[in-house]
Amino acid sequence: MFNFDYYNPTKIIFGKERLAELRNLIPLNAKVMLLYGGGSVEKFGTLTKIRKVLGESISLEFGGIEPNPQYETLMRAVEIARTKKIDYLLAVGGGSVMDGTKFVALAACYEGDAKDILFAKSRKQVFTSALPFGTIVTLSATGSEMNNGGVISFGDGKYHFAQDVVFPHFSLLDPELTFTLPKRQIANGIIDTFVHVGEQYFTYPAHAMFQDRTAEGMLKSLTELSSKAVEEPKEYDTMANLMWLATLGLNGLIGAGVPQDWTSHMLGHELTALTGMDHGRTLAIVFPAVLKVLREQKRAKLLQYARRVWHIMEADEEQSIDFAILKTEDFFRSLEVPVRLSEYGYGIAEIESILQQLKTHGMNKLSETGLVDLDKCREILTAAI
Ligand code: NZQ
Ligand code: ZN
Repeated sequence: MFNFDYYNPTKIIFGKERLAELRNLIPLNAKVMLLYGGGSVEKFGTLTKIRKVLGESISLEFGGIEPNPQYETLMRAVEIARTKKIDYLLAVGGGSVMDGTKFVALAACYEGDAKDILFAKSRKQVFTSALPFGTIVTLSATGSEMNNGGVISFGDGKYHFAQDVVFPHFSLLDPELTFTLPKRQIANGIIDTFVHVGEQYFTYPAHAMFQDRTAEGMLKSLTELSSKAVEEPKEYDTMANLMWLATLGLNGLIGAGVPQDWTSHMLGHELTALTGMDHGRTLAIVFPAVLKVLREQKRAKLLQYARRVWHIMEADEEQSIDFAILKTEDFFRSLEVPVRLSEYGYGIAEIESILQQLKTHGMNKLSETGLVDLDKCREILTAAI
């Protein structure tokens, strides 16, 4: 196992009917700005409940944060937060609202150009202050509620940032708030979680027994609950399990001390930037192709996955790996999510555009080896046609 630092200060409040506890979670006299998305939280009554609990503590509401949140939209929120001297943010929504809120929290306290936040990773810039914030999660998918990362759309790209000052102060996870999700978003969330776990697992063995077994348990649990989640989205225990899986899938726990490979996410972000496709749906296309093309470097883990997650006991290694990747694709398809670019009408022309974007964004040393260059990316994307 590699050396690692593990830090996660986010307090989780999990379960039914816990919104009333917001009163104790947000500092007295805080000037709160509530941030939300395109209106689902208004439509389904969540905002009304929050307003009732927090009353006059809510100084401002900022709606309209779009899926794959846009820099320009968020900068409007930053301006308002500064002008009105807001000192606490409350995100109510899915990954886009939570990520957007993290960006606002950082930008509101930063005197330089807010775009620095987007480019901080390559420049190794560390931000030391941000407005404190909490989240109320309405979509189980990204894990943003218990991590320090965010993804923001700017120009022709999606930019990932990670700063320790934007771990949420608390996250309130009430599975009932996800009962209104359409099938498509539940499916997206299951796939996103599956791939988060997968990208911390499908590398090479690092003698990390707990991380491996936990990741395998998560992958298996996702396959077990998936059909019920999309068919019966008001079944509490199913949605509760999905919610906790999504949170733990990307809160640092299973990624500690092991190699990671975020190639699928990097390619997926470019695909969203080019086509507007939902995040989870891009991963259903790219992830199986990554496993196919990088099967040699991931051989030992693919075999372990085949045995432990799918109970494939073939003596022939090649066949085991083929079956395991096929099972993965079938799993995504069972959620009515396409697994090929061509199913969306995309092909060579889009691949060339994605490669151009990857080049512009400096994404040419991907994977746990750092050896996945643009040629390898072309191979992966071609396998995804
Ligand atoms: O905007 P509203 O009207 O609220 O509707 C949203 C949106 O249209 C809707 N929705 C959310 N909760 C609902 C609901 N509809 C009905 N009932 C509810 N309870 O769902 C739609 C999608 O919402 P969004 O927040 O965009 O989805 P998701 O949670 O999948 O977030 C995707 C974003 O997160 C980023 C992605 O790149 C993408 O921008 N990610 C963030 C990560 C992180 N911070 O760690 C990691 C991930 O890998 C991912 O990259
Ligand atoms: Zn993701």
